[in-house]
Amino acid sequence: MPTIAIIGAGPGLSQSIAKRFGREGFSVGLVSRTQTKLDALAQELGSHGVEAAGFAADVTDPAALAAAIARITERFGEIDVLSFSPSAPADAALAPVAVTELTLEAVRPQLDFYLGGGLTAAQQVLPAMTGRGSGTILFSTGGTSANPGMMPAFGNIAVGAGALRNYALSLHAAVAEQGVYVAHVPLSVWIGHGGPETQPDTIAEHYWTIHTKREGAEHPYVAMP
Ligand SMILES: NC(=O)c1ccc[n+]([C@@H]2O[C@H](COP(=O)([O-])OP(=O)(O)OC[C@H]3O[C@@H](n4cnc5c(N)ncnc54)[C@H](OP(=O)(O)O)[C@@H]3O)[C@@H](O)[C@H]2O)c1
Repeated sequence: MPTIAIIGAGPGLSQSIAKRFGREGFSVGLVSRTQTKLDALAQELGSHGVEAAGFAADVTDPAALAAAIARITERFGEIDVLSFSPSAPADAALAPVAVTELTLEAVRPQLDFYLGGGLTAAQQVLPAMTGRGSGTILFSTGGTSANPGMMPAFGNIAVGAGALRNYALSLHAAVAEQGVYVAHVPLSVWIGHGGPETQPDTIAEHYWTIHTKREGAEHPYVAMP
């Protein structure tokens, strides 16, 4: 049975990705900071016939994140698909700062969250994926990563998420010949707020298509009002 690891598991898009891949027979390993929420998500997936379990870790804590991913491998076997899609909480450390007010201090937490988290997660699965010549890694960010002029008020987020985008596109080129598919998905959408194109289940279809077609390094999803 193939396994997907979802880093930044929550009730929105991540859970829809979990259900979509679960429907195809994937087991699902869920990672976010709150074990009780993860247990509820895993239980919901179970009610859809999807084998799932949660392993708590913060993406800004490299040792804890590595340990959580190791536990997914112990529980379900090698990871076939890694989806890195945490949603940054609007707390003080990660609050938006306009590009005109930007300081290094305002960027660092974003770099830890996006680039640090994505890099740590990828490092845990890459050796096994390149070793066996298969696997998919999907990184998700908001649209400012790919189009930084779109929202100047989100200057620090654009820089942090843009760094992860840069890493994703570079990694795509570096490991493609070893059979590992890496893609970045910049999402310009307010998830769940609008028509069917904004609903997480609709967007999750986009992820399944990206994974199965394995074409290109970047797949923007745009559904703005
Ligand atoms: N929501 C939108 O409108 C929107 C717009 C553009 C892009 N996106 C992107 O879409 C993806 C999914 O977003 P979503 O809003 O639907 O979220 P979601 O998939 O429902 O949940 C994401 C989860 O990330 C977890 N998380 C937050 N900080 C974390 C940390 N430091 N370490 C580990 N986990 C952490 C949260 O759980 P805990 O708090 O329990 O850790 C949260 O439940 C994300 O990549 C996001 O950037 C969303």
